[in-house]
Amino acid sequence: MLNPLATHAGARRLITAAGAAPSVHNTQPWRFIVRHREYVELHADPDRWLKVADPRGRSLRISCGAALLNLRLALRVSGHRPVTWSVPGAGDGSPTLLAAVRPASAAPASAAEHDLYGAIKTRRTNRQPFTGAPVPQTVMDELITTARIEGAALVPLRAPASAALLEEVATAEEALTGNRGYRTELARWTSGQSDSDGVPPYVQGPRPIGDLAPVRDFARVTRERVRFEAHPQLAVLTTPGDGPADWLRAGQALQRVLLVATLHGVSASFLNQPLDLRDMRRHTDPRHPGGHPQVIIRLGYGPAVPRAPRRPVPELLRAA
Ligand SMILES: Cc1cc2nc3c(=O)[nH]c(=O)nc-3n(C[C@H](O)[C@H](O)[C@H](O)COP(=O)(O)O)c2cc1C
Repeated sequence: MLNPLATHAGARRLITAAGAAPSVHNTQPWRFIVRHREYVELHADPDRWLKVADPRGRSLRISCGAALLNLRLALRVSGHRPVTWSVPGAGDGSPTLLAAVRPASAAPASAAEHDLYGAIKTRRTNRQPFTGAPVPQTVMDELITTARIEGAALVPLRAPASAALLEEVATAEEALTGNRGYRTELARWTSGQSDSDGVPPYVQGPRPIGDLAPVRDFARVTRERVRFEAHPQLAVLTTPGDGPADWLRAGQALQRVLLVATLHGVSASFLNQPLDLRDMRRHTDPRHPGGHPQVIIRLGYGPAVPRAPRRPVPELLRAA
């Protein structure tokens, strides 16, 4: 099989897939360097790091991990095995380097791998109200298994734990929006000024009726209010540790879970406000001895939603 990194078109295809990953506030905090047409490096882009809401670079690495999973899948469907080195905290003179991936020869991708790759284009964050229909247990079980493949855990919550978490989200949201630095940073990424990044108003979704919102409040003033599902189905993605390698792993697990959910017609959005607040206060969370929470996910069935913008590949890709 021809090494996809040997041609510009091949490299473009890989980076298009990687760049379609979800990222915190759609910051797309990644850059890719193809070295000697042999391997591709994934770098964090410090100019796109949320220094207020993400002081540890946790969400940044989760985002880059999601891009890494897409890159690995794109290599797989090109008939290669992605040999991946993860260096998420390396201080080797190139502190932005998070991982490197080299294509090795392998058997052709399976139909399931092709399906997952196909879902990269159709996956969206869906901030609309969901129908309230429960995600079947068989699908939840598959999502749980999927997270494990990448070394993370997906923990579905039931009442009363999910109601308690919604309370926590509301409290965190209030604390966050009371922080001027947070508001300024959020506005920078949600004003809709850019047509290639950020969370523009057309994907922000409506404001929920009631105090316990199952979505992040992106813009408090102008939007209509609608009723969301009464009992949002929440799940928490956790990792065994809480360091840079865990965050990169969480991102890969998150994206794999989201792609499998997409294939089942399951929509997802995120409510990470309590985790952002914890990071901003420099707290670790002692209440989760079984795993460190990295992403709070809402699952269900929502209407079709538009695609959030993406940066053009030439902005992301450099050859060296
Ligand atoms: C680590 C991480 C945290 C996120 N947190 C939130 C969140 O709290 N609220 C939210 O609505 N979206 C959240 N998102 C979703 C992003 O805003 C979304 O991925 C981005 O806008 C791109 O849109 P897309 O997922 O539809 O491609 C998060 C995504 C990641 C990777």
